[in-house]
Amino acid sequence: MSLDMPLLDNIADVVLSYRPSSPSNTWLNKIHVGDARTVLQLMPSGIVDLSFWSPPYFVGKEYEAHLTFQDWQNLVRGVIKEHARVMKEGAFMVINIADILCFVDPDMPRYMANNVSNKKSPVTREDVLRAKKKHPKASRDELARMLGCSEQTIQRRAEHNNVRGGKGTAGTRVLLIGGMLQDWAMEAGLYLYDHRIWHKDPCWANSRWHSNSYRAVDEFEHLYIFWKPGIVDVDRDRLRKGEWAEWGSRGVWNIRSVQRNSRHECEFPEMLAERVIRLLSDKGDVVIDPFVGSGTTTAVARKLKRKYIGIERLKKYAKLAQARTNVTSN
Ligand SMILES: C[S@@+](CC[C@H](N)C(=O)[O-])C[C@H]1O[C@@H](n2cnc3c(N)ncnc32)[C@H](O)[C@@H]1O
Repeated sequence: MSLDMPLLDNIADVVLSYRPSSPSNTWLNKIHVGDARTVLQLMPSGIVDLSFWSPPYFVGKEYEAHLTFQDWQNLVRGVIKEHARVMKEGAFMVINIADILCFVDPDMPRYMANNVSNKKSPVTREDVLRAKKKHPKASRDELARMLGCSEQTIQRRAEHNNVRGGKGTAGTRVLLIGGMLQDWAMEAGLYLYDHRIWHKDPCWANSRWHSNSYRAVDEFEHLYIFWKPGIVDVDRDRLRKGEWAEWGSRGVWNIRSVQRNSRHECEFPEMLAERVIRLLSDKGDVVIDPFVGSGTTTAVARKLKRKYIGIERLKKYAKLAQARTNVTSN
């Protein structure tokens, strides 16, 4: 197989490269540039044995900043819909995603935290009311100086608003994503087959919401495994006995996340792709990643002697993915 095929720059190139007489060969072992929905629409039916992907998470990364929440839902739903056609019967689609732990919702009642263990000023409401009674004409600033505290403390105590949290910012809530994926997959005729947890390391730096709340830091993601109805050949020889016990049959996978983000903002670890590909496909199978990013799935697929198809909207990442996959030895 040729691995130095030209990079497709746009959808027109994708259309030109498609030959109905040799559909698979035209699509295989390439990173295609374009919107995943459009590229998938151009693909022949029933060529994919395994799909593994991690979409934008709607958490404000550079590559998703242009999306509204509705756009984001349309994107993920649309990609799932197209999968139902390009997958073979009995094939799996594995989606790696996290819940949105800090989903901005302007309609949510403000959540304000009274951080009782971290109060800076010992000044009480009674102190403020007493000072006000004694000096009825004193400004907030003057009262603050008299009592040796901040103006904000005077205001909070006087207004009985003894809580912290900026008034200007909208409330944030936790938004679970799995139910949406399941609904969109069902619409497309794909069934939830399995669910696993990827337990990574705790992301203290990214979890600003935990410090003044009872909320946990971000330290796990989900793998939702969907099945297109059809026969699944169960081959216990795909893994060694110890591997079945260690991870193949286990619901929680402990894998450290990628620490650097110099080449891409959100790479998932090669080990994650390796486990999914080894568990759910055979050598020679076609593995697709419609949000290929830095090319983790395609590089690992090639290393494991699978054929690959990558799709990426941004040309800079498509080039990166192609280069990374080309140098991977198989
Ligand atoms: C979470 S990242 C995937 C990272 C990848 N798993 C890796 O290990 O590098 C999502 C990727 O999807 C790409 N993307 C966003 N919208 C897209 C779309 N409509 N079609 C195709 N790719 C898209 C982004 O540019 C980004 O590279």
